[in-house]
Amino acid sequence: MTKIDFSGRVALVTGAGGGLGREYCLALAARGAAVVVNDLGGSTAGEGASTDYADRVVDEIRAAGGKAVANYDSVATEAGGAGMVRAAIEAFDRIDIVVNNAGNQRNRRFGEFSEADIDAVLAVHLKGAFFVTQPAYTLMCRQGYGRIVLVGSQSGIFGNPIRANYGAAKTAMMGLMNVIAQEAPTDVLVNCLFPNAVGGRLGGKPGDVRPDAEFLAAAGAKVPHYIDGMQPSFVAAMLCYLASDRCTSSQNMYSVLGGKYSRIFAGLTEGWFRPGKVPPTPEDIVAHLAQIDDLSRYDVPRSGLDEMDTVIAAKRRTAQE
Ligand SMILES: NC(=O)c1ccc[n+]([C@@H]2O[C@H](COP(=O)([O-])OP(=O)(O)OC[C@H]3O[C@@H](n4cnc5c(N)ncnc54)[C@H](O)[C@@H]3O)[C@@H](O)[C@H]2O)c1
Repeated sequence: MTKIDFSGRVALVTGAGGGLGREYCLALAARGAAVVVNDLGGSTAGEGASTDYADRVVDEIRAAGGKAVANYDSVATEAGGAGMVRAAIEAFDRIDIVVNNAGNQRNRRFGEFSEADIDAVLAVHLKGAFFVTQPAYTLMCRQGYGRIVLVGSQSGIFGNPIRANYGAAKTAMMGLMNVIAQEAPTDVLVNCLFPNAVGGRLGGKPGDVRPDAEFLAAAGAKVPHYIDGMQPSFVAAMLCYLASDRCTSSQNMYSVLGGKYSRIFAGLTEGWFRPGKVPPTPEDIVAHLAQIDDLSRYDVPRSGLDEMDTVIAAKRRTAQE
């Protein structure tokens, strides 16, 4: 199999001063990419700033013979997003790959969130993805090539306790991906990665609000089964694929957990179709709930237009019965 090669490609990885982002940068650079290593370098709650994190990763890449520059802008501002894309152009003349990896957390129970906790997390994960991706996307459209990777989390798409702000912001990546993918020209591709790894700074810190003991015990019992594959390098393999010209699909979501690689998708059940103009009663809904909920037959629409086709198909089926 031909080796995935990033020679001549330029990548921007946000929040890349440690954890998964660092691993992505090292892997991309080792295969020839010139890399902009962005990191604000603050606390896991998103407070403060430091140049040390990004600088260390740049030094590592250069020591191994790779090409990299550091950038310390915040993804959470429009100026910051524009600044890091400009850094790629100034240093390397183009931008081919954007990995929206930067992240913070402010974990609370749902009833305890302040507006500041909500805003701080949405600002980095959700608005940050807009602010970084938009200026890069414009350039990618002009050059007719680009690979955009958004980063989601199982905390939202499947759900984990004590992080409603984070889970909601991360699941928004699915909507952002779906819409960009509909608008993007051929060969500007956007996909979503759902990583899991130890070693990042978001894994919990003293003073964090923790899930209840029952959840922690249930999670703890599963750890021995997946811990072997929890190294950031397991995730970097999938990231490199999504960032490469070997990836030709857009609008796909992939999970990496404990050595298992899976596609995540949003589908809808074949459901129940009510023909005609007379709306059903709530009792009709109850009467057909088993059919509405039946997961044995489902569709995976690739757009809102595609979902309309499932209604047309249901109407045809009903007419034939
Ligand atoms: N580690 C996991 O198991 C896991 C699971 C699901 C999702 N994720 C996601 O993967 C990404 C990386 O996670 P990690 O565990 O390596 O975390 P990490 O904390 O080690 O890395 C995130 C980095 O983002 C930087 N950052 C924070 N706010 C920033 C801002 N405004 N601008 C620029 N940089 C900023 C931080 O300084 C930090 O270095 C995050 O988006 C995280 O939500 C991680």
